[in-house]
Amino acid sequence: MKVAVVGATGLVGTKILEVLAERNFPVTELLPVASAKSAGKKITFKNKEYDVITPEQAIEMKPALALFSAGGNTSLHYAPLFAAAGTTVVDNSSAWRMDPAKKLVVPEVNADALEATDKIIANPNCSTIQMVVALKPLHDAYKIKRVVVSTYQSVTGTGKAAVDQLMQERNNLPVTMVYPHTIDLNVIPQVDVFLDNDYTKEEMKMVLETQKIMGDNNIKVTATTVRIPVMGGHSEAVNVEFENEFEISKIKEILSKADGVILQDNPSEKIYPMPKYAHESDAVFVGRIRRDETQPRTLNMWIVSDNLRKGAATNAVQIAEVLLKNGWL
Ligand code: A2P
Repeated sequence: MKVAVVGATGLVGTKILEVLAERNFPVTELLPVASAKSAGKKITFKNKEYDVITPEQAIEMKPALALFSAGGNTSLHYAPLFAAAGTTVVDNSSAWRMDPAKKLVVPEVNADALEATDKIIANPNCSTIQMVVALKPLHDAYKIKRVVVSTYQSVTGTGKAAVDQLMQERNNLPVTMVYPHTIDLNVIPQVDVFLDNDYTKEEMKMVLETQKIMGDNNIKVTATTVRIPVMGGHSEAVNVEFENEFEISKIKEILSKADGVILQDNPSEKIYPMPKYAHESDAVFVGRIRRDETQPRTLNMWIVSDNLRKGAATNAVQIAEVLLKNGWL
């Protein structure tokens, strides 16, 4: 299968190439795509070298699948052009996520939303993906009323230039600022831009995308999203109020059996999820599970996952695997 990776020189694009190779996705011809300034650069995939090409060149070659991670504007412009050439697009940007005509998919949660006619499919926001993978089995069991989430997000979520800012600051080099403030030895309570309601766009993505993926607009979500000087993954403190009463032992049992989740919860041994351990894994790690003692039917937990893998590349490739399995590619 001819597969284009749009944004192949970026952090997520590089990870998509790794994940495609690892999972033996049936790529017969790879089209690594980046901006015109990267055209002609070499990319190695499965021990073979490929030239980086422009989106225009890739469209002419009519790939069956294009995995996009090149920012919202690139997606808005090029995804419809690929789709018009017959390519199915899985897009990692926020460009199409809330379009009612586009599916927003986390395979463990709503793979059944996909249809043969979907030509542009949206990959959700990284913080949302890891949260819904853990929440869905609990929603099925106890029905979620309200979620309060605070995130601790890795700089890798902002792309290569952000990782450079952190390392330049750490190594006392001249700094090219990507964030509005110093990130090393700091915590920035702003992820993405501010909206009219004084929430950030990232916070509202977590609200709206959770409802869309879970297929339930009655789930109330409120979020505070925060950038921290970490690379391995995003962490989240999540408080969940259910309609129905639960037992902690049953919550742990459900999560230990849930698709895509690894339960890591043994306080006496100081075992809980951390980015250090989640890094390079496709799983969503859940721990620090305990009852919120201030109100009934409410749970606290801690969720960690590698934002470049399950939060981006792996989820996109898993969507493509569902399409393939259904004979739609
Ligand atoms: P390039 O390296 O040529 O700029 P990151 O998020 O890690 O910064 O990566 C962004 C990715 O999106 C890079 O691969 C970048 O390519 C790519 N990209 C940015 N703008 C375009 C564009 N107009 N067309 C194709 N790819 C683009």
